[in-house]
Amino acid sequence: PRVRADGCYVLPGLIDSHVHFRTPGLEHKEDWAHGSRAAVAGGVTTVIDMPNTVPPTLDPEALVSKAELVAGTSLVDYRFHLGADPRRPALLARLDPGIATTAKVFMAGHHTAPTVVRDPIALEKIFAAAAIGGVRLLLHAEDESIFTLLDQWQGEPRSYLDYERRRPRSGGISAVARVLELVRRYGTEAHILHLSSAEEADLVTAARAAGLPVTFEVTGHHLSFTDADTRRLGARIRLSPAIRTQADQDRLWEALRAGEVACLGSDHAPHTVEEKTRPVPDAPPGLPGVQELAVAVWTGMRRRWPEEDPDLAATRLAEHLSARPAEMFRLPGKGRLEPGADADLVVFDPAAPWMLSAHDVRSKCGWSAYEGWTMTGRVLTTIRGGQVAWDAERGVFGRPEGRWLSGAAAQDRPRTEITARDPRHAETEAQGPSRGAG
Ligand code: DOR
Ligand code: ZN
Ligand code: ZN
Repeated sequence: PRVRADGCYVLPGLIDSHVHFRTPGLEHKEDWAHGSRAAVAGGVTTVIDMPNTVPPTLDPEALVSKAELVAGTSLVDYRFHLGADPRRPALLARLDPGIATTAKVFMAGHHTAPTVVRDPIALEKIFAAAAIGGVRLLLHAEDESIFTLLDQWQGEPRSYLDYERRRPRSGGISAVARVLELVRRYGTEAHILHLSSAEEADLVTAARAAGLPVTFEVTGHHLSFTDADTRRLGARIRLSPAIRTQADQDRLWEALRAGEVACLGSDHAPHTVEEKTRPVPDAPPGLPGVQELAVAVWTGMRRRWPEEDPDLAATRLAEHLSARPAEMFRLPGKGRLEPGADADLVVFDPAAPWMLSAHDVRSKCGWSAYEGWTMTGRVLTTIRGGQVAWDAERGVFGRPEGRWLSGAAAQDRPRTEITARDPRHAETEAQGPSRGAG
């Protein structure tokens, strides 16, 4: 088919390094057929999927069997993050990089966490083992204190607004501080997921400036909603970590503008309408977002910074949603449009205004917290591996021919560091594009 591209940006296929596509065991919330259609409708051609499934993927065997389940069902290329297992930290010291090079650590318990690392000794062992194995840890940095209120409130229904307001933000800040101390001690590469508050952004940015190999992700929803939206959206924006204040959101946007953010992610974590309409506090945290991520961030960028040259804005979007995740997660052939790269690209109309409705939602959960939003910018065509995976004008999807990007291809490639300096080799200067991140 012909691809219309006049007045559009042609960007490298976007990479969402943080999705929960729910296979195995939670397919009533999402599956790869729906999740990957949502992805290509949002311009995403590669996803990295999270381990908190049923059962969770806590060892290479579980990861390989997940790959077998997903094979032939995905429109996008995919990789899997392992889950760190507090009972078997040594797995990370000898993890086959052909299988996985990253592991997610849940530092506090909530509905969907697989194996929560509550024991500080186990957490320390995980950091030590990951440093030996060259594994990048992805941190869900929250402390139990965030959830203790929830226990106290059992049987005492209140509104979500009330609930979210009372969640102590200190539980996130102290968890980030613990992570930074362990990074300092062991030199482990750490990537803090869904960073949500101003204090946390300040802490991590200071640690980076001091040379620690730590990066952070910001999600589309933390850039799009504030606690003021809880009144309207209730448990739809009940998230872990929580949506915070306007001042926090402003700081996250500033971090994006300053290049402090390593990558953007959706934390696409669908739950059914039934689950999300349970009374306080039983609705699980999470929302769908892989489809909305790029357009919501673009909409926010144009609204916040109307003076910015749109070409620069589009470059910034491609940087944080394609080039950087490709480097960080060692995805050869991804991240840039250049000779020899995979033919993954997205045709993006930057000016088209449109209103998102539930009808547009491709996730199996069938709802979006962005319903009613007027978006600026639309994904017209998504091409993965040279094939049209999404054609918005005709409303047609391609075939599920996405590939498993096991770490194997990345193994013999030289590793690109995006961290400023490795404290184990203090004289080594930054390699590769760590632009503006200092
Ligand atoms: O809000 C969240 N939902 N945070 C998480 O860390 C997990 C996720 C989910 O899997 O539902
Ligand atoms: Zn998380
Ligand atoms: Zn997540």
